[in-house]
Amino acid sequence: MDNPGFKIRSTLLLNEDSVSVKRAAEIINRGGLVAFPTETVYGLGASVTNVRALKKVFAAKGRPADNPLIVHLSNPDQLKIVVHSVPVYAKILIDRFWPGPLSLVLPKSETIPDLVSAGLPTVAVRMPDHPVALNLIEAAGVPIAAPSANRSGMPSPTTFRHVLKDLSGRIDAVIKSSICVIGVESTVLDLTGEQPVILRPGGLSRELLEEALGRAIPIAGKIEGGCLPASPGMKYRHYSPNAPLILVVGSTARRRYFIETLAVFYQRQGLLVGMLNLSSQQPLSKQLDSEQLAAKLYYLLRQLDSAGVDVILAEEVSVKGIGLAVMNRLRKASARIIKV
Ligand code: TXA
Ligand code: MG
Repeated sequence: MDNPGFKIRSTLLLNEDSVSVKRAAEIINRGGLVAFPTETVYGLGASVTNVRALKKVFAAKGRPADNPLIVHLSNPDQLKIVVHSVPVYAKILIDRFWPGPLSLVLPKSETIPDLVSAGLPTVAVRMPDHPVALNLIEAAGVPIAAPSANRSGMPSPTTFRHVLKDLSGRIDAVIKSSICVIGVESTVLDLTGEQPVILRPGGLSRELLEEALGRAIPIAGKIEGGCLPASPGMKYRHYSPNAPLILVVGSTARRRYFIETLAVFYQRQGLLVGMLNLSSQQPLSKQLDSEQLAAKLYYLLRQLDSAGVDVILAEEVSVKGIGLAVMNRLRKASARIIKV
C-alpha cells in the first residue's frame, strides 16, 4: 500500500542528549516523523493531532489504513486529552504498570483524529518506560502516535540501524540509542468490553495482569484456541524470514534430539542452517531463556536473513511470562510447526 506521491528525503541521525531530543520534538511539532527508542521496540512518532503527519506514518511504513496506532504519553495526566473515560480496571493497571509495556484500549476522546484509531471508537494508549521516549513526548508537549518503526511485514526494529534499514529516506529523523531491552512489543489489553481481553500478548505478562485485576484474562483470536475477535493488526501478514522457519514443539528431550538430527540432515545436503534459540556449537544448556530470547528475537531473525541461511530451526519455549509473546511471534514467523 505504498503511496506513489510519497517524497523521499534524507533521514537525520540524532543523539539522545537533551538538545538533540528537543530538535526531534521540534520536528514532530512541525509535522515530521521521528523514530525513537522505547523499552519494547523503536516507534515511529508523529504528533497525535496532526492529520498530515499521521498520513505520512502510514505511507512511510506501507501500513494498511485500517490498522490503528498506539498513542504514547509522558504522563498519565495526558490521558484526558486522548480518552473519553478511564474505567476502574485501567486506573489499577496504570498505577501498577505505567510506565511500562502495557497498551490499554480505552474509549477514544473526540479530539483524537479517526486516522489514529482507524475509525474505531477506541484508542490504544501507553506510557513507555524509556527516558528518551518520555523526554521526547514531554518536549513535544503533545501525545505521540507511534506504530513500530519497521516497514509493514518486517520485524519490529530494536536498534536504530534496523530502523534505518527499513525507513531511511522515508522519515525525518531517528534517535540513536542503545538496544530496546524488552525486544517484543507491548501487551495490548482491551478494557472497553464486558471483560478485559488481551488483544496482543507482549512485554507485560498475562500472569501479572491477572494478579493485578484478581481475575482470569482471556486472549483474543486464535491464540490458545480462543474465539474472541483479535486486534486489527493481528490479521495482517506478519514477518516471516526469507528462509523457512521450522518451529519444533514437544517435550524438551524429543525436540532437541529432532532439531539436532534435522540440522545434520540439512547440513549434509549442503544447506546453511540457522539456529534461532539454540546453537549446535554450544551445549544445549546454554539455550536462551524466554526473556533473553524476547530481547534478541527480532534482532536474530534479521541477522539470520542477512546471513542468507537456507533454513531456520527454532525450539518451542514455555508460554509462561513473556514466553507467551515469544511463542506468538514464533508461530507467526514460522513456515512449519512440527510436533515431535
Ligand atoms: O511496544 C509497542 O507497542 C510498540 C512501541 C513503539 O510502543 N508499538 C507497536 O505498535 O507495536 P504497532 O502499531 O506496531 O502495533 C499496535 C497494535 C496493532 O496490533 C493494532 O492493531 C493494535 O495495537 N491497536 C491499536 N489501536 C487499537 C484499538 N483501538 N483497538 C484494538 N487494537 C488496537
Ligand atoms: Mg508493528
